[in-house]
Amino acid sequence: MQKSKILVTGGAGYIGSHTSLMLLEEGYEVVVLDNLINGSQEALRRVEHITGRPLTFIKGDIRDRACLDQLFSEHDIDAVIHFAGLKAVGESVGQPLAYYDTNLGGSLALCRAMQAAGVFRLVFSSSATVYGPDAPVPYHESMPRGGTSNPYGTSKSMVEKTLEDLSHSDERWSIVLLRYFNPIGAHPSGRLGEDPQGVPNNLLPYIAQVAVGRRPSLKVFGDDYATEDGTCVRDYLHVMDLAEGHVSALGRLSLPGTHVYNLGTGQGLSVLQMVEAFERISERPIPYQFAPRREGDLAAFWADPHKAQQELGWLARRGLDDMISDTWRWQRQNPHGYRTEINTTSHGAS
Ligand code: NAD
Ligand code: UFG
Repeated sequence: MQKSKILVTGGAGYIGSHTSLMLLEEGYEVVVLDNLINGSQEALRRVEHITGRPLTFIKGDIRDRACLDQLFSEHDIDAVIHFAGLKAVGESVGQPLAYYDTNLGGSLALCRAMQAAGVFRLVFSSSATVYGPDAPVPYHESMPRGGTSNPYGTSKSMVEKTLEDLSHSDERWSIVLLRYFNPIGAHPSGRLGEDPQGVPNNLLPYIAQVAVGRRPSLKVFGDDYATEDGTCVRDYLHVMDLAEGHVSALGRLSLPGTHVYNLGTGQGLSVLQMVEAFERISERPIPYQFAPRREGDLAAFWADPHKAQQELGWLARRGLDDMISDTWRWQRQNPHGYRTEINTTSHGAS
């Protein structure tokens, strides 16, 4: 049976490429809009190769209304999954205008174009960061949005509120806000994964680059948090589980209003637990030094994932060893990410 056509903004990025792959495997048609500022067309070529199905790629900016109008006039889009945006927390502090322009301005332009085209079904990439520093763990969707400490987090919070107001204003809108916890991992083929530009901000890409020899050692930010081993605790989830969450969310778009879901495992792991697990699975040492706390980091948070299970039928199925062995396979086979073509075939589990 022919399934509907989904616009995936930011589909050439980390989460978007894995979700596009899963949509194609589920029989959807996929149109990707991405300006490639942090994405790769090579990722999309690999998605097509792995799935054996074509997708449509449009190089364009989410803020470009003319580009969006043309896209909607040329494609009969059923729903939009909106990943496109800037995501580096530290960078956002120095470049607030860029973050509000892309993340908030881009979302406004997209919603205006959707409205004009009569497309009212939207899934938005939000973040656990919107709960703010004072929320008790585990985070539950019934908790209010809290204060945010950087423009990135504030932009996510502002888009969430904007989308809620939009769905209140017109019952044709059906919107799902997905609050991701900490996505890691890669497609099990080792051909698709996270390819950060420059020095990785996030823990797992950094550890993986140490393991593969691109960086000498890891800095562990803070050893004096009120956690079991003194390092921060996060809820890491597999990017393939996250991709499945988006496919499940599409099913919720038959209901009017805004619906919010945590996508996490419900389990917290410390930085040192992640280092130890990576050493065990990769059989490589991960040298590390403790460094001062990173500004803005919270000691510990994880999801209450039950609402997504009850209403979307979604549950994170992949465990820590899958997350790390898939990250390691991707990093080993693509030591320089998508910029090299060496060893792009799967060599099985590590
Ligand atoms: P990513 O940077 O890999 O992907 C984002 C994609 O958007 C990139 O391909 C980039 O080129 C594209 N893009 C950026 N600005 C654009 C613009 N103006 N027009 C068109 N395309 C543009 O990031 P990701 O990790 O895949 O994250 C996807 C979404 O999920 C983002 O909105 C991010 O804020 C959100 N999110 C990510 C995490 C995480 O830890 N990775 C956690 C919570 C939320
Ligand atoms: N960390 C290190 N060394 C590093 C990198 C990270 O010790 O080189 C530590 C951090 O201090 C933190 C933990 O590893 O304790 C996780 O850090 P990440 O940067 O991987 O993830 P964050 O929890 O800070 O943030 C991520 C995304 C945000 C998102 C948030 C919640 O980057 O966009 O998850 O969803 F908002």
